[in-house]
Amino acid sequence: MQTFKPNRRAVLAGAGASALTWRAGFAQSAAVVLTAQRANAQIAPEGYPQTEVWAYDGALPGPQLRVPQGARLRRRFVNKLDVASSIHWHGIRIDNAMDGVAGLTQDAVPPGNSFAYDFMLPDAGSYWYHAHTNSMEQVARGLSGALIVEEPEAPDVDRDEVLMLDDWLLDPETAQIDPDFSQPMTLSHGGRLGNLIGTNGRFNYALAVKRHERLRLRLINASNARIFVLRLVGLSGWQVALDGMPLPAPQPVAQEMVIAPAQRIDLIVDVTAEGAQSAIERLGNDDQWHTQVGFEIAGQASRARRDPPSALPPNPRMDLPDLAQARSLEMKIEGGAMGRMAMGQMRTLMQGGNFWTLAGQAGLGEAPFARLSRGEPVRLRLLNDTAFPHAMHLHGMHFREVLPQSKFGPMRDTILTMAGQSQEIAFIADTPGKWLLHCHMLAHAAAGMTAWIEVA
Ligand code: C2O
Ligand code: CU
Repeated sequence: MQTFKPNRRAVLAGAGASALTWRAGFAQSAAVVLTAQRANAQIAPEGYPQTEVWAYDGALPGPQLRVPQGARLRRRFVNKLDVASSIHWHGIRIDNAMDGVAGLTQDAVPPGNSFAYDFMLPDAGSYWYHAHTNSMEQVARGLSGALIVEEPEAPDVDRDEVLMLDDWLLDPETAQIDPDFSQPMTLSHGGRLGNLIGTNGRFNYALAVKRHERLRLRLINASNARIFVLRLVGLSGWQVALDGMPLPAPQPVAQEMVIAPAQRIDLIVDVTAEGAQSAIERLGNDDQWHTQVGFEIAGQASRARRDPPSALPPNPRMDLPDLAQARSLEMKIEGGAMGRMAMGQMRTLMQGGNFWTLAGQAGLGEAPFARLSRGEPVRLRLLNDTAFPHAMHLHGMHFREVLPQSKFGPMRDTILTMAGQSQEIAFIADTPGKWLLHCHMLAHAAAGMTAWIEVA
């Protein structure tokens, strides 16, 4: 049998192009584009105007990217905004040149320009992507989306849903995003907290489900600064992964789940409510529980309650760091309102537009906080000597909290440290490059809480 071969020579002759440009043209058209652009979205309740946002492909949240574990993600980022931008792939143990940090791993992409992201995804799990150029403003304006890396064999669930939790600071009349990103109050206190809390770009997000349905829920906290305290109502199940990384065994969901900015929690839950309603509820500032995501029950799934799920398959490189061999580092977190920083030091900081320091340094210095040798085990004590909680995120590597009796917590990429707390994390410095270590309360990061380490 003869296979069909397009007559390439004829095509090229007709186009008058050389083989080289033909191939280049082909490669370009094959790369999928991800565009940052202005768009309008109905974030606020019906009756309010639409909100002007900056969004990937004009969608809020950005398009959900799903890639098989071990595959490459290729996206040509096209910047149609009128400010420079770049994309960070949060939680991916990534090729450093693709990490998207403007000023550290790449130059910000100017308006009208593009950048080719192309990297391997070693780990299955729930990740996300967001702007990493002036991220306090750009993420607040809508530049984030989910990045889901699929296990070769998906767990046995009826549905797989991504729930991106967010909060928005909107003008209560016009529903437009508060354009003040330099408020000293925001920068020096708890960060940019919104006045409209939502999920997946909507204020009252709800899903229709069936009784006894088994759902995999991927919670992603995409907010600037809000720490969500959540509980399940009429749903029951297990935590199976944190910050993308599978837990060694599913853990029954606790009474209350805490999810700090940038953190992710993967749940497998069954719809167990007797009535028509089930929900994920959020604890409000008023100490009342509010619906965060509604699950409206209609009909029955074919199977009644089933056995607990098995653990997700482990990702590669989840070994415990050898504490005895580890280099010990310490990072003091200081500054902010109502803290213990001396007035004089605070005044100097504020002259540079900062309010916070990590290990005595505000913002990226010339030298890294630490230079690590590739493969080296490291333990890092974080001392929160401020009056606020912080969500400390390390790029490029996951770490574990060191618990009493040399036990370890699960692998994470973001740890919540409460005011006055001290925690130790440990990791193996096995991903080469320049990596940020910063607070994911993005106003704090903008006001000094950004450091970097180098692994070589
Ligand atoms: Cu979500 Cu510097 O990262
Ligand atoms: Cu912080």
